[in-house]
Amino acid sequence: MTTSTSEPKPGGNAGMDSEYLEIRGLSVSFDGFKAVTDVDLTVLQGDLRFLIGPNGAGKTTLIDAITGLVPATGSAQKSGTELLGKKVHQIARLGVGRTFQTASVFEQLSVLQNLDIAAGAGRSPLSLLRRRKSVLPSIEEALEITGLAALRDQPAGVLAHGQKQWLEIGMLLVQNAAVLLLDEPVAGMSAEEREETGNLLRRIGAERVVVVVEHDMEFMRSFATSVTVLAGGRVLSEGTVEQVQADPRVQEVYLGTAAAIGTELEDETTAHSIEASAQNKESADA
Ligand SMILES: Nc1ncnc2c1ncn2[C@@H]1O[C@H](COP(=O)(O)OP(=O)(O)O)[C@@H](O)[C@H]1O
Ligand SMILES: [Mg+2]
Repeated sequence: MTTSTSEPKPGGNAGMDSEYLEIRGLSVSFDGFKAVTDVDLTVLQGDLRFLIGPNGAGKTTLIDAITGLVPATGSAQKSGTELLGKKVHQIARLGVGRTFQTASVFEQLSVLQNLDIAAGAGRSPLSLLRRRKSVLPSIEEALEITGLAALRDQPAGVLAHGQKQWLEIGMLLVQNAAVLLLDEPVAGMSAEEREETGNLLRRIGAERVVVVVEHDMEFMRSFATSVTVLAGGRVLSEGTVEQVQADPRVQEVYLGTAAAIGTELEDETTAHSIEASAQNKESADA
């Protein structure tokens, strides 16, 4: 994959052979409990999509379904190739990568070794041994783009929390993942690390399909080019940051944390409808 100077933008920068993720009518149930219901989601290459929603909205489950960790019905295609029904390693080999809420790197191994293993996924142990003497260009590139070049020989275990997340993203890059699903990548990060992570997403997002699950609204406002809001397993709203923030349905699910989505409540009507729904909820609870 080539590096480019272009930045992610709303609607992506799709060209002739660009990548996309297209989800249609995706549902997941756990013993009859519907964690995800009839989700439609299309993300084009170059569109830095944030997936937000309250706890338990089904964000992680949706990523689990796309990556083959939980069974789902409906359809999830990467650039026209159906993913549902395939095994985890097959989906990874098709170029769909994900990170977990807690970073999962090999702590005893060096940064370089972690990247080497990721690059060698699916290859024979012998070819891994043969390659060890030289560093693949794709690994050099991942070290540069993630800012971990100077730490290449450090054990991953000594990395700061943020750096571990960047290493995980680097591991997806060397696997040539064209679709990256990142589950709360900046959780627990310092403000500085968040900024760095956002810039990293900008650097890699133009050439790839990137979906970022996020709780941090400030981070979303700074870096999202588009947003999908999940609530109760369904898509509640979708659009630009401004559009979803202005959506009363979104304000309602973030009730009590309206400030967290940056809603000033200057609009009298909106303020009243939120108050009214709060009162309705109180009387329903009583
Ligand atoms: N393996 C599972 N078995 C049963 N219920 C689950 C399982 N995984 C998630 N859930 C439920 O599905 C819902 C969505 O969870 P999750 O996808 O983790 O939400 P989010 O990531 O948006 O916080 C929650 O109600 C959660 O308790
Ligand atoms: Mg989650």
